Amino acid sequence: MQAYWKATGELHHSLLLHRGKMTIPASRLLIGLMCHVTCTWAFARLPEDAEQRSAFSVARTSSMEGGPKMVVTFDKEYVNIGGDFDSKAGMFRCRIPGAYYFSFTVGKFPRRDLSVMLMKNRNEVQAIVYDENAGEQRKVQSQSAMLQLDFGDTVWLRLHGDPRYAIYSNTGHYTTFNGYLIYPDTYTFQDPKNEDPTPMHGNEATANDHTLTDQDGLGERDNVEKREEVEDEEEDQRSAFSVGRTQSIVGVDQGFPEHRPIAFDTDFVNIGADFNVTEGVFTCRIPGTYFFSFNAGKLPHKTLSVKLMKNHLEVQAMIYDDSDAEKALQSQSLMLSLRHGDIVWLYSHQRDGFGAYSNHAKYITFTGFLVYPELQKPATNQQQQQSRKP
Ligand SMILES: *[C@@H]1O[C@H](CO)[C@@H](O)[C@H](O)[C@H]1NC(C)=O
Repeated sequence: MQAYWKATGELHHSLLLHRGKMTIPASRLLIGLMCHVTCTWAFARLPEDAEQRSAFSVARTSSMEGGPKMVVTFDKEYVNIGGDFDSKAGMFRCRIPGAYYFSFTVGKFPRRDLSVMLMKNRNEVQAIVYDENAGEQRKVQSQSAMLQLDFGDTVWLRLHGDPRYAIYSNTGHYTTFNGYLIYPDTYTFQDPKNEDPTPMHGNEATANDHTLTDQDGLGERDNVEKREEVEDEEEDQRSAFSVGRTQSIVGVDQGFPEHRPIAFDTDFVNIGADFNVTEGVFTCRIPGTYFFSFNAGKLPHKTLSVKLMKNHLEVQAMIYDDSDAEKALQSQSLMLSLRHGDIVWLYSHQRDGFGAYSNHAKYITFTGFLVYPELQKPATNQQQQQSRKP
């Protein structure tokens, strides 16, 4: 029964997009129509929510040298829910528009440099793994980011085209690539409140506002009535950010230590606008359990020390590298249980001799998203942002 209402709800969604085509770009219309096709099919074939799933996890069992064919391909599939990842082609193709989390780990080949970029579509560099080291040793490097994708967008890993670069792997699987859908764009339509029992005769204006809010985020709701706004605010249990920094950070000696967050200049995703990019601070709006991951490059001859901070200087986790290595990357991830108003930020040690490397390819990235909102407790109902999970 629920599946039925869901399917008709999304059908309604696509019809509204169609009627509203004067103001909605063709790409959105296409997404609406594709959703229609997907959901109609899902209605017939799949149990509830199955059509909102997309996840892959793949590995490579052999090394690869830089050359004209720069797409990293894979030959071992652990997970490919929805079939959206083509291992032979090395391509993820977005079927369900939404926000996806990607992570990858690549092995460094002895006496070669390592340069692998997370790419969107043909040539949009999102983030990089890099290790410049003529040494004999093998090791792995990791990177992660969340990306907002439209239907048909592709995501892939690009190995540098020069044979000086190579990735290492063997049957031990040094090289892996994962991605999964965190928030589909049609998220709010899963909410029982939106499952209008008479969808074809619903209040079109109201439903249309929902549609626009859903797709454009919290920033563009000027025309939404106040009542609607409150409703949306309570319903939207989504919070996610993924940001990058294109410049290095160099610690300098000061009279007193200044504990300023690492600021960012690129946002891949900022659902709920809970992350202030220029300030570098995430502020918890929805109490619950959040996943955080961060990555930073090592500056030659400097110590890398970046800490994940909560509120005022409460260290949660850190990355560290005081080796003599040239450029390389370090990664860390953690889940935190947060209360409304808690802040989370990254701190790079502010002293001479410390620093973190980045450039336009984005070595420094920071991602966080809500995994589970706190369940509503009757006793604390004055907390207005509480969960309303069906
Ligand atoms: C981010 O924080 C700065 C400093 O507190 C503030 O001036 C700015 O308006 C904030 N930006 C957003 C988008 O909230």
